[in-house]
Amino acid sequence: MEKIIISTPDSVSAIIIGAKWEAVVKLLPESGVAIITDYNVFDHYGSGFPDFPVLKIKPGEQSKQLKVVESLLKKFLDIGLDRSGFILGIGGGVVCDISGFIASVYMRGIRCGFVSTSLLSQVDASTGGKNGVNIGLIKNVIGNFKQPEFVVCDTSMLLTLPDDEYYSGLAELIKTGIIGDKTIIDILEDNYKGIIDRDKIILSDLVSRAVKFKASIVSKDEKESGLRRVLNFGHTFGHAIELNEAVKHGFAVASGIKLATCFSLKKGLIKEAEYNRIIGLLKKY
Ligand code: GLY
Repeated sequence: MEKIIISTPDSVSAIIIGAKWEAVVKLLPESGVAIITDYNVFDHYGSGFPDFPVLKIKPGEQSKQLKVVESLLKKFLDIGLDRSGFILGIGGGVVCDISGFIASVYMRGIRCGFVSTSLLSQVDASTGGKNGVNIGLIKNVIGNFKQPEFVVCDTSMLLTLPDDEYYSGLAELIKTGIIGDKTIIDILEDNYKGIIDRDKIILSDLVSRAVKFKASIVSKDEKESGLRRVLNFGHTFGHAIELNEAVKHGFAVASGIKLATCFSLKKGLIKEAEYNRIIGLLKKY
């Protein structure tokens, strides 16, 4: 088990990689916890959830709306969650985004933590404290920064991901390899079969590398005043593609990376060999 700490001026967030997700119960208060998850995650793992009220949302980006947030907030009032309460999000990027957002506004802010169940959320979305919901086609236009107290990343949960969800997450890993830890690129190039087979050891190493890089950035620039923008590589084009074409986030980011890489080559900012390596990796996966 590995614990990576993200320290910001107001918080300390522990990202725990390689532990069994059921051990999350040890990180929770004894009472006053409410769980947010989606129907797919609940079908796979609900029987092992800690014994607290569970609120379920529909899986997918269409749940990142204020009306979904409002209905969850009303349910929290119904179950009597107060200011000392704790929200546990168990799911991928959408569940973590919504759980973090609600924890930041409910009763002016309560504690939260996540079990991150998708590759995309383990390598990027669940760490770093960004949360948000969409208005129409504008992504994450309402939200803020609130670090979860912990994020549990158990790579054995990735075995139940549908293929398109898994490949979607690989795009964020490729992004992190390009902008940060180049060893991620070497591992992705040299271990195709292990990655396609979702080898737990290789994936734990990749998740750990991605989280360490993200932690190093977020610890220096939590609120994205400059440096953190590097994590948005591929996302400027990607968000437009995602909402207009209704494709999964990672596929849109992969297309965004491709467009940004073409743009960089045309501007003379990267060499042809670098362009070929990035495009080759995107095609491979
Ligand atoms: N997903 C990019 C960031 O957290 O800043």
